Amino acid sequence: MQPAVETFYERVGGHPTFRRLMADFFSRVREQPELAAMYPADDWEGAENRLLMFFEQYWGGPMAYSGTRGAPMLKMRHMPFKVTERMAGVWADCMNLSIASLDLDEVDDFLMRDYVERACRYLINADE
Ligand code: HEM
Repeated sequence: MQPAVETFYERVGGHPTFRRLMADFFSRVREQPELAAMYPADDWEGAENRLLMFFEQYWGGPMAYSGTRGAPMLKMRHMPFKVTERMAGVWADCMNLSIASLDLDEVDDFLMRDYVERACRYLINADE
């Protein structure tokens, strides 16, 4: 039986779409030396997988993030990193280009960018 309500996750193509988004995003992050330096050099795959699980869960997909990592508490999890307004901007620019590469419907594209903008602003925890 079809589910009564389709989630955002399902509407945009489910797991393959989110995998593509993350592969594109992390290839862009690696090209930004200052941002790339914040990530665990020996665990890019792990970092990609954690963000993938989180995004999938946030947009209505499987709950694997909470199952493996616990409650998201993103602000707290970003405390070890110096998230300045400028670096949050670099992160958001990378993600917005990756979202654009998915070629989503206008509304879905807007919803994702809007979330990224709000989340990045919320995660800022340091001055320059
Ligand atoms: C939409 C905005 C963002 C979301 C949803 C997000 C989400 C996440 C998640 C879910 C993790 C994994 C946490 C864990 O389970 O341990 C993570 C890790 C991390 N984030 Fe973010 N983040 C965002 C923005 C940023 C920004 C703006 C920066 C830096 C400028 C940043 C830097 C990092 C770093 C360095 C890690 C550690 C990588 C790892 O080992 O998982 N994030 N982020």
